[in-house]
Amino acid sequence: MTTIIASTNRPGSNTLLMSQHYQKVLDQKGYPSEILSLTDLPDNFLASDMYGQRSEEFQIIQNKISASTKFIFVIPEYNGSFPGVLKAFIDGCKFPDSFYGKKVALVGLSSGKYGNVRGVEHFTGICHYIHMHVMPLRLHIPAIDKEIDANGNLIKEDTLRFIDQQAEQFISF
Ligand SMILES: Cc1cc2nc3c(=O)[nH]c(=O)nc-3n(C[C@H](O)[C@H](O)[C@H](O)COP(=O)(O)O)c2cc1C
Repeated sequence: MTTIIASTNRPGSNTLLMSQHYQKVLDQKGYPSEILSLTDLPDNFLASDMYGQRSEEFQIIQNKISASTKFIFVIPEYNGSFPGVLKAFIDGCKFPDSFYGKKVALVGLSSGKYGNVRGVEHFTGICHYIHMHVMPLRLHIPAIDKEIDANGNLIKEDTLRFIDQQAEQFISF
């Protein structure tokens, strides 16, 4: 199973829109995937699901992570890196078997100029530490507000082409 992780808990995020776009692209290529949005984390998960604690709500999420062998993390830039909730989520998942030896592709996005280059680099280091295989082609999408129309569709041809290329590589990764 492949899971796309929309790596923020901010309601109405562009990260979730981008994750849905990735899912659609993979789907059109006959490759099924599921989305896990960090908005689905239990409200109180810092208290209920860290350091050996496990709520029934998080257990459902943990089961999906455990059943997944490939991941795409779509990661927004927050204060020059990836969101803190993403690290807390990783810390809350069962270690080491949640991610060990599994494959991952990374996508960064930002409203600013850099497309979360640094945050994706930071997260790549964590992926290596938890023993994931990171696909070399990582994507960075800056100025995200100019990429999406009023209906939430991606409108720039070069971005669509880059996403398509990354999706193709991910399928055969
Ligand atoms: C807490 C927070 C910090 C942010 N920091 C940055 C930043 O350092 N650089 C940047 O380009 N955009 C920053 N942004 C804007 C996001 O990149 C922007 O909201 C974009 O749409 C991706 O985030 P989203 O998925 O939450 O929509 C920040 C947004 C939030 C909520």
